[in-house]
Amino acid sequence: METLQDKAETLSFAKKLKYSTRTNHDSVDQLVMQSEPFLNNENYAKFLRLQHIFHLSVAPLYQNDDLQEWFPGLADLPRLSAVESDLNDLQLEPNVSPDQVATVPNLFQAIGWLYCAEGSNIGASFLYKETQKLNFDAQYGAKHLAAHPEGRAPHWRKFVAQLDALSLTEEQEMEAVKGATDAFAFYKQTLKSLA
Ligand code: HEM
Repeated sequence: METLQDKAETLSFAKKLKYSTRTNHDSVDQLVMQSEPFLNNENYAKFLRLQHIFHLSVAPLYQNDDLQEWFPGLADLPRLSAVESDLNDLQLEPNVSPDQVATVPNLFQAIGWLYCAEGSNIGASFLYKETQKLNFDAQYGAKHLAAHPEGRAPHWRKFVAQLDALSLTEEQEMEAVKGATDAFAFYKQTLKSLA
């Protein structure tokens, strides 16, 4: 009988990341929706703080030389300054203490964190639409949820192709999966801490 492990071994690296973190994603998705981020400005402000802490944690990865070499165009992708501009639109101070921010221990785990951050832009299409209820958009308050200029799907396909072109060893891939799992766990823990 095919085990879960066998199945994971026959998948492409990007699919492996998706497959290994599916339940982590779905529980984060549920928890975010339970927090009703688009009910009113106060809830949306909490959501922005959460996104800010997450994007602060991944921001250094976008500046890393090795990662930039593996993911051409990476330097143009971080959404930290867009989140900060959204906070500013809502007249919120971007106050975060250093112990709220995650530190990613190595390059291979960093790939998993990047996967989590870049993939979050796919689901953000739904979140972006929801922000319209609060009258936010790409110009005001919801800049960080706006689509990449080349479109969400083409951008995601390009990132997936870059992941699949990495030819990592099995151990390195496992590290990346750990990074992605930790990134989802961090997001969830931060969400709970802000509740
Ligand atoms: C309410 C919140 C969220 C909703 C409704 C949502 C929804 C979605 C949807 C519909 C997809 C596309 C799935 C597919 O095409 O198979 C997706 C993909 C993804 N989302 Fe979310 N998402 C949410 C939050 C997040 C968060 C907070 C993160 C990261 C911290 C995240 C990370 C990802 C990743 C990495 C993918 C790519 C999966 C893959 O194809 O490999 N999502 N999301």
